[in-house]
Amino acid sequence: MTIAASAPTPPPATALAPDAIGRLVKHDLDGVDALIRARLASDVLLINQVGEHIVGAGGKRLRPQLHLIAARALGYAGQDHLQLAAVIEFIHTSTLLHDDVVDESDLRRGRKTANALWGNAASVLVGDFLYSRSFQLMVELDRMAVMQVLANTTNAIAEGEVLQLLHVNNPNVDEAAYLRVIERKTAVLFAAATRLGAVLCDLDARHGAALHAYGLNLGYAFQIADDVLDYTADAAALGKNLGDDLAEGKATLPLIHAMSRADVATRQRLREIVQAGDAEAMPEVLAAIETAGSIAYSHQRAVDYADAAERALGTLPENAWTAALRGLARYAVDRDF
Ligand code: IPE
Ligand code: IPE
Ligand code: MG
Ligand code: MG
Repeated sequence: MTIAASAPTPPPATALAPDAIGRLVKHDLDGVDALIRARLASDVLLINQVGEHIVGAGGKRLRPQLHLIAARALGYAGQDHLQLAAVIEFIHTSTLLHDDVVDESDLRRGRKTANALWGNAASVLVGDFLYSRSFQLMVELDRMAVMQVLANTTNAIAEGEVLQLLHVNNPNVDEAAYLRVIERKTAVLFAAATRLGAVLCDLDARHGAALHAYGLNLGYAFQIADDVLDYTADAAALGKNLGDDLAEGKATLPLIHAMSRADVATRQRLREIVQAGDAEAMPEVLAAIETAGSIAYSHQRAVDYADAAERALGTLPENAWTAALRGLARYAVDRDF
């Protein structure tokens, strides 16, 4: 698990607000969206239908923004960051198609999931199409260092997803085991998105480690916040159903914390609920989470990671783009969707 304990306290630095970040990155992000649309195409109709369905629903485009902003923070003035941002979003999108099959989710980005509409087979196969399309785009960039980062990253994501599968219905998963899963399934892609900004600028040796640490810590923060939202959000705002994690028998940080703090009888009951993946027991779980203060605890853990992400930026040049990275660290933990 990351969070650098010995990191120096950062000097007061500005963090851009979400709308200012949006304005800063808009031009680049429009370019990325155009590329995504253009490169989504296939002459196999079902691929276009499923691809359009999930891509057209939007999503926050957070990972491509992170890449664009990281590259710009180091003064990148070329065009390859647009394509690389599209690669990163394609990889993310393919993991969502696969994830919704595994999690049996039926709402994503405010729409019915691809698996709910077209079935599991179509979702998995179109996920494979997006995944391999991302590799076609990546190879076009013809940079071995980029391919190395992304090959390692996608491999780690797959490991994270399998590791998580092994934890399903297991009430013994503790916080350390949970953190090992979220590092691989989520944080490594954030780390790749930001580190690749330095790789594109040929500044990996100088700034790569800092951007990697920023992205990795941000990824932890983001996933912990996502896991809190699965208990607390407004489903319409979130665009996903609540309680998917519990229904799947997946113990995430709020529930892990509640299990560690509850009295003996409640703990035993929570263990049974995880073993059964009993979505009907949501009111009981929410009560136990409330009693144990598990939402506040989890939120604070997310804030700790976001703070560590901000600290990692200390050695980067100070400019509007690094201020945007700071703003995104705060946004990751203070969002409601
Ligand atoms: C969802 O990611 C998967 C997680 C890592 C929690 P996002 O919340 O970034 O999904 P979109 O792209 O905005 O839909
Ligand atoms: C994120 O985990 C999985 C991926 C990295 C694809 P979740 O299962 O919590 O993501 P959501 O909540 O379905 O978006
Ligand atoms: Mg899921
Ligand atoms: Mg989730």
